Amino acid sequence: MTSKRVAVIPGDGIGPEVTSEAIAVVEATGAPVEFEEFGINSGRWHRGEDLIGEEELERLDTSAGILLGAVGDPAVPSGVLERDILLRLRFRYDLGVNLRPVRLLPGARSPLRAANAESVDMVFVRENTEGPYAGTGGSFRVDTPDELALQDSVNTRRAVTRAVRYAFELAAARRGHLTWIHKTNVLTHAGRLWAKVVEEQHQRFPQVEVAYQHADATCIHLVQDPGRFDVAVTDNLFGDLVTDLGGAVAGGIGFLPSANIAPDNQHPGLFEPVHGSAPDIAGLGVANPTGSILSAALLLREIGFEEQATAIEKAVNAAGTAGRLSGKTREISSAVVEHLDR
Ligand code: NAD
Ligand code: IPM
Ligand code: MN
Repeated sequence: MTSKRVAVIPGDGIGPEVTSEAIAVVEATGAPVEFEEFGINSGRWHRGEDLIGEEELERLDTSAGILLGAVGDPAVPSGVLERDILLRLRFRYDLGVNLRPVRLLPGARSPLRAANAESVDMVFVRENTEGPYAGTGGSFRVDTPDELALQDSVNTRRAVTRAVRYAFELAAARRGHLTWIHKTNVLTHAGRLWAKVVEEQHQRFPQVEVAYQHADATCIHLVQDPGRFDVAVTDNLFGDLVTDLGGAVAGGIGFLPSANIAPDNQHPGLFEPVHGSAPDIAGLGVANPTGSILSAALLLREIGFEEQATAIEKAVNAAGTAGRLSGKTREISSAVVEHLDR
């Protein structure tokens, strides 16, 4: 099998700690993957360098996929690294879907007493290129009493349809239930577009049962009754918020993987744990690498290495069943490697 080149951006904080473990697990599967590492991180900002160079962009553009750890540094103004690295790549490749499976893994401890593997098994489809993330708006009359900050939420029929259609396809292939989440009671312009698109797509997938929730109520239901979710689709910002809550429900944000994918183009996907750079635990060797390991599995599946992807997912489950998904970063990844069926 010809090998594929995967770009790796370990990033900041715990990003490099978890990414190196994900790479070790992939290497242990024998997947024909060649990793190319990019030092795209906060160090560049501190040195006054470009965050991503032109030649690097070309290498990223032509990679089979990108594995990212996390970006973010408390010593850098908030949003600079996030927007100029992570969002830049999501937008550059028009990665319209951010897929975030939320599963309670064996051995993981949910803070919810009644949670189990059946009730916490859902997938969020987060629209990934628009909403308030579009970055349009502006600051006006700055430093006056009349200062005004506008941050628009952009919602195009094209991008909403892309995410909603993807969610219906996924729901049809899973348990046949789709929750769409918004704030139609307040965000009436965007809400009407989303409602129309959901209805249109529902006609193409009449076998899927559809439920609507306001985003605030989702925070209640996710905690009180997670079993009601199968597939959920929502806008960029709500999706960001509710999936962090999903991480907590699943026993820790460190367990959640994600795939930023382009359902309608050939650009490389971007695969990353849902968590950030976690400056509070960086350097301690205690970050949970499971989300990064599972993100690498999603990447392998996307680039055609289904067998190795499944092997990783099975090994994570087996390590969990053996009670070994807790402890230090290295202990967790070693447990996954030990449980790989080779
Ligand atoms: P965070 O996800 O980094 O951390 C939130 C909490 O979860 C912290 O207490 C942290 O210790 C814990 N945590 C996170 N990952 C963990 C893991 N793998 N194992 C164990 N505990 C873990 O969120 P934050 O503190 O709001 O953000 C820190 C920085 O990361 C910010 O600059 C933010 O913008 C950035 N960020 C980046 C990404 C990304 O690059 N994909 C995602 C989220 C946040
Ligand atoms: C995530 C992160 C990012 C987001 C930030 C770092 C831009 O929180 O991937 O969940 O808000 O999308
Ligand atoms: Mn987030």
